[in-house]
Amino acid sequence: MLEKLGLLPPAAATHAAQVDALYLFLIGLSGFFALLIGLLIIVFAIRFRRRSEHEIPSPIEGSLVLELTWTIIPFCLTMVIFFWSARVFVSLRTPPRNAIEMFVVGKQWMWKVQHLEGRREINELHVPTGQPIKLTLTSEDVIHSFYVPAFRIKQDAVPGRYTDEWFEATRPGTYHLFCAEFCGTWHSRMIGSIVVMEPADYQAWLSGGTGATGAAEGAASVAASGEALFTSLGCATCHRGESGALGPALGGIVGTKVRLQSGESVEVDDGYLRESILNPQAKIVAGFQPVMPTFKGQVSEEDLLQLITYIKTLRASPGAGGAHRES
Ligand code: CUA
Repeated sequence: MLEKLGLLPPAAATHAAQVDALYLFLIGLSGFFALLIGLLIIVFAIRFRRRSEHEIPSPIEGSLVLELTWTIIPFCLTMVIFFWSARVFVSLRTPPRNAIEMFVVGKQWMWKVQHLEGRREINELHVPTGQPIKLTLTSEDVIHSFYVPAFRIKQDAVPGRYTDEWFEATRPGTYHLFCAEFCGTWHSRMIGSIVVMEPADYQAWLSGGTGATGAAEGAASVAASGEALFTSLGCATCHRGESGALGPALGGIVGTKVRLQSGESVEVDDGYLRESILNPQAKIVAGFQPVMPTFKGQVSEEDLLQLITYIKTLRASPGAGGAHRES
């Protein structure tokens, strides 16, 4: 009903109902106490008003029952709010394992999207219903924020690191996409649309069948583009995974922990791979020399996402002279 009255944006993802319920509960609770306190002020002002010039109020000793009541009830209410919102937050922050990955790069002033299959779009995002989608976000310049009110999700896209957000769309349609972080002159024009389609329509769109806007034909998958970059940048020369190679073998390395020269360990995730490509001297794996050149300026944010996606597809080859793994 609130949606029809224009008080809430349309609810088009699985999280919408949870977020709305929590939001309405907070509004209801705040409204109830605002009314209660306002009413009590008026009632007390009338009931306990000074009735004559010579009146001296009787001393009040306090009341244990009253003090316990106004301590315990608010405590219980705030605990309900805490556990309820923590549950919603954790669910919003934890993408399911089977989520489809998509990549989003923000720049002044547009959103660039690439699907795993290779299809690209600008200021538009096509997604199927009934499938969890995980967006990996970054920015080329300043902080932007990927905000879809109909899905009740908002996440900053931060230059120099990866963030993510996920959703599962429930209702086909076209929904607003906003940048929700002031990012310069045309921040207000950094908008777009999320097109939610039935899975079959989405597959058709993905293969470039209907309403194609991008270069669909022959678009290489993200991993294939990454492999091409891996070859053309010469990564394989040192990371070919043989013993005696100049760099650590990359097969199966993602998700593991590697020991560093400094003696510390680091988990190999998207952020570490990105740092190692742009600033290779930062965290050298134990047993290797700091000989890798930086690729800063040679690879774009899209290139980095493609390289990282490709590296994730590499499997460990038995007997490879790899890094010193810890787990
Ligand atoms: Cu991008 Cu505001």
